[in-house]
Amino acid sequence: MHAQNIKKHVTVIMERSIQNGKEGIAMNEVITVIKNRRSVRHFKTEQIRDSELQEILECALLAPNARNQQKWHFTVIQNKNIINKMINTMKENMLRSGIEFLAERAKDPNFNPFGNAPTVILITADKTARFSEIDCALAAENIMIAAESLGLGSHIMTSTEFLFTLEKGKELKRELGVPEGYEHVCVIALGYKDENPPAKPRIKDVINYIK
Ligand SMILES: Cc1cc2nc3c(=O)[nH]c(=O)nc-3n(C[C@H](O)[C@H](O)[C@H](O)COP(=O)(O)O)c2cc1C
Repeated sequence: MHAQNIKKHVTVIMERSIQNGKEGIAMNEVITVIKNRRSVRHFKTEQIRDSELQEILECALLAPNARNQQKWHFTVIQNKNIINKMINTMKENMLRSGIEFLAERAKDPNFNPFGNAPTVILITADKTARFSEIDCALAAENIMIAAESLGLGSHIMTSTEFLFTLEKGKELKRELGVPEGYEHVCVIALGYKDENPPAKPRIKDVINYIK
């Protein structure tokens, strides 16, 4: 065994010996990061570092995707005026949606779906490619886990589908340079956390074991 591999092997064995209360499970940074991730809805306005953004985007592109077709697209918006335009367009489209609870939400004078995030990532897909929305969801999770691992907060949203409804939305879609034929999947707000929300409870009775 190569010296480097021996070192790795010994490290793994040592890690396995550090138990976290569950038999045979070693303390593990990835699991800790997954468990610590929350939807963050209030961000500091300070912009994230470019090195952090690049690392996060690299993780997005490394997500598994059906037949490696990669029919996804990521629009990174860091321009405050454009982010405000997105918020206003979404608000207007929700008000005119004819859906009462959405209109009520949009009427809130504090309507702020991105929570002051300085970076917003719009994920779009060619939905004619089978499973492309699943691909995007996996990329989104990679983004959120990578962000958490770097000490950043994130929040995935799909109510942002109202960005591109009606005529104003179509204009915004063109302005954002979304590729022809690509459609909204979700938006992720990204930034330094201005809150540390507690974990939301999970229903445990959703797993069936067949052994
Ligand atoms: C597909 C999807 C769509 C979501 N859309 C919204 C949304 O439109 N607005 C919102 O406030 N949160 C949205 N969320 C965030 C969820 O509300 C959040 O993940 C859930 O309450 C669990 O909380 P946690 O992320 O802190 O664990 C969405 C999450 C997912 C996975």
